[in-house]
Amino acid sequence: MRSALVVPAAGRGDRLGLGRPKALVDLAGRPLLVHALERARASGVVDVVVVVAPPDGCEVVRSALAGLDLPDLRVVEGGRERQDSVRAGLVALPDDVDVVLVHDAARCLTPPGVFTAVVAAVRAGAVAVVPVLPVSDTVKRVAGDVVVETVDRRELAAVQTPQGFAPGPLLRAHEAAAGAAPATDDAGMLEALGHPVRTVPGDDLAFKVTRPLDLVLAEAVLAGGPVPARAAR
Ligand code: CTP
Ligand code: MG
Repeated sequence: MRSALVVPAAGRGDRLGLGRPKALVDLAGRPLLVHALERARASGVVDVVVVVAPPDGCEVVRSALAGLDLPDLRVVEGGRERQDSVRAGLVALPDDVDVVLVHDAARCLTPPGVFTAVVAAVRAGAVAVVPVLPVSDTVKRVAGDVVVETVDRRELAAVQTPQGFAPGPLLRAHEAAAGAAPATDDAGMLEALGHPVRTVPGDDLAFKVTRPLDLVLAEAVLAGGPVPARAAR
């Protein structure tokens, strides 16, 4: 059986504010999407790639990826919300996959080892797998400008991608979620159906390029050579 990677890359990048789809923004000379796919391919655990392109962006995406030599590349157009884009990508999947990874193009520096760990956890029997990191800020619940309570951060985890799934439950969760309030990640839809979601260790480098400072960080990482390992919290 093959594993498939669905890459939602259709977002507008409003918070980055560069006036173009974030996945196509330049990072050290190449689009974010290309960096993301290079690392996915280097994991050696991705057999099929479905890129979900911005509206009218399929050709731009195809030519950006032409030099990457991806095994089985499919490019489809995305939708209004991330969830719509992932669903469009799922429709393009072949039948012979036993693992589906969903990975934000915006998490463009995610190291290959995270892909490997997520695929291994799904193949070991997990229905849904998410990479997580401890939360380093103190987190409070607020109402307007008033603090309601401080949440014990030892119970919290920041969730990254790639998230990995058994294909059937993921497809059914997306069908069930259609028309509901948009979810910000895919595992949440399986949680809503009562599926257990497993965690594997995430990575600092799997941060999402969201705001301008994140792009500065990504440029610095690429310019600066090896990144020190994360210390225990
Ligand atoms: N995404 C997508 N389709 C959408 C919205 C988002 O494929 N309709 C993708 C983005 O391209 C990104 C990932 O989902 O790779 C995570 O979304 P986010 O970081 O929110 O990216 P944008 O939606 O592009 O950014 P913003 O919310 O600032 O506009
Ligand atoms: Mg968005």
